[in-house]
Amino acid sequence: MDFFNEQNITIFDHPLIQHKISLLRDKNTGTYEFRKLVEEIAMLEGFVALSDLPLEDVEVETPIEKCRTPMIAGRKLAVVPILRAGLGMVDGVLNLVPTAKVGHIGMYRDEETHEPVEYYCKLPSPTEERTIVVTDPMLATGGSAVDAVSQIKKYGGKSIKFMCIIAAPEGLERLHNAHPDIQIYVGHLDRELNDAAYICPGLGDAGDRIFGTK
Ligand code: PRP
Ligand code: URA
Repeated sequence: MDFFNEQNITIFDHPLIQHKISLLRDKNTGTYEFRKLVEEIAMLEGFVALSDLPLEDVEVETPIEKCRTPMIAGRKLAVVPILRAGLGMVDGVLNLVPTAKVGHIGMYRDEETHEPVEYYCKLPSPTEERTIVVTDPMLATGGSAVDAVSQIKKYGGKSIKFMCIIAAPEGLERLHNAHPDIQIYVGHLDRELNDAAYICPGLGDAGDRIFGTK
């Protein structure tokens, strides 16, 4: 599969995103800096991911005269992080759209099977009328992302975007094949998964590095 030719997959090559991802990878980057970098990358990715938000002209009075000028219209935005690590990207998107609602999907990977186990789901309604940006820094086997998007669709979600910072080819292909209708944004496409289903070279366990656990 040639990922670069898929219309609804964006793999970023912006130098600022690449630079910040390299800092994230460094095992010597501490919790505070890691958290800031995840938020900044989410904001840079979000700037592009939200470039198709619909606009409508509204009337505004400037100090000079009245004019009609564009503002974000129509569908309301929701950010839905996959807990825990996806939480680290939420403020990056909220910096861009502070009025967005926030839902949560709780999932962890079973250590043996690497399959996702869902433990929480709360989405802002009406889900079907919103553009939903799902955030998770890591797309590894793709199991968590596929299940999270399925869950959002079960609640009626129709316009869904998935934003991650690092993806493995296996996970990207699995997510795209399971949900070919969603837009996927990837900060960097890494080489492969190892036997423990960690992304190589990756950045380790994103949740632990964001929250300083382990
Ligand atoms: C990590 C990551 C993703 C998932 C990716 O979460 O944040 O949610 O693994 O792996 P997958 O593509 O193989 O499903 P984890 O299960 O470590 O939970 P945490 O965020 O609570 O640490
Ligand atoms: N989850 C992570 O946090 N890191 C990986 O490399 C894979 C899954």
